[in-house]
Amino acid sequence: MAFKLDEAYQFTMELAREAGAILRERFGTALTVEQKGPADLVTEADRLSEAHILRRIRERYPDHDILAEESGLQARSGAFRWIIDPLDGTTNFARSLPLFGVSIALEVEGELALGAIYDPMGEELFSAVKGRGAWLNGEPIRVSTVERLEDGLFAMAFPSALRRTPMAQKSLAQFAVFSQRSLGVRRLGTAVLELAYVAAGRLDGYWGLELNAWDMAAGVLVVQEAGGQVSGLDGSPFRLDGRQILASNGRLHPTMVHRLAEAGARDGAALPGQEEGRP
Ligand code: IPD
Ligand code: CA
Ligand code: CA
Repeated sequence: MAFKLDEAYQFTMELAREAGAILRERFGTALTVEQKGPADLVTEADRLSEAHILRRIRERYPDHDILAEESGLQARSGAFRWIIDPLDGTTNFARSLPLFGVSIALEVEGELALGAIYDPMGEELFSAVKGRGAWLNGEPIRVSTVERLEDGLFAMAFPSALRRTPMAQKSLAQFAVFSQRSLGVRRLGTAVLELAYVAAGRLDGYWGLELNAWDMAAGVLVVQEAGGQVSGLDGSPFRLDGRQILASNGRLHPTMVHRLAEAGARDGAALPGQEEGRP
């Protein structure tokens, strides 16, 4: 079957809704929760959602590559690659906090071509097609027009193992700098929805470390197509395998890079509760 981007886009949106329905049915029920690593959970809902997405993609596009969080890479032709997070915000989900999403993106020849992020509890479907725009439930979305840090509302992700590592110190310093200088800093626990909210202008910026391609792929395209900007935390070109992202409305990007660097420079300083001799 010849590949048609429009059909693939419709298919992706259907699939995100179907997977979201699987999660919604199981939300708030007793689930087996397993620990993959420190502060890294997986539930049967993650696996059921992913199995459904994989089955549907395999039926329709048997020769496409698929990179999915719970099962890794299935390599085929190399020209098309689906990038899947079947449940982003597993910790929220496992604790009956209704903020989580499904994320599905498609790369064609190494370029993000389309993406969909679905919040099954809020019934919000964020989507984008390269060069054509970004939408929320079919209505076009744009990033915010906020220009000053002090008017900005932000979200961030702390590294999952928030111990006394240099990276954790840096994240805490960033949180402090932005909290002191902005309207506020949220930590929603779901990178895919945080990126979608930047695209929809609900948040003015988001940054995170220790992220994987499936946490970022669809969100990157949705943000870019809504007029926003993505990069590394230091403003360097964004890389899907770079483990980090800074996403913003564009106007705030240089200021955010500057303030994140300032916080980075502070990261060796003692933070509250971490003074010499204290546990
Ligand atoms: C996690 C969430 C979280 C982010 C973590 C991710 P998961 O994804 O997006 O916000 O801080 O780094 O691993 O495990 O819930 O799919
Ligand atoms: Ca994730
Ligand atoms: Ca996940």
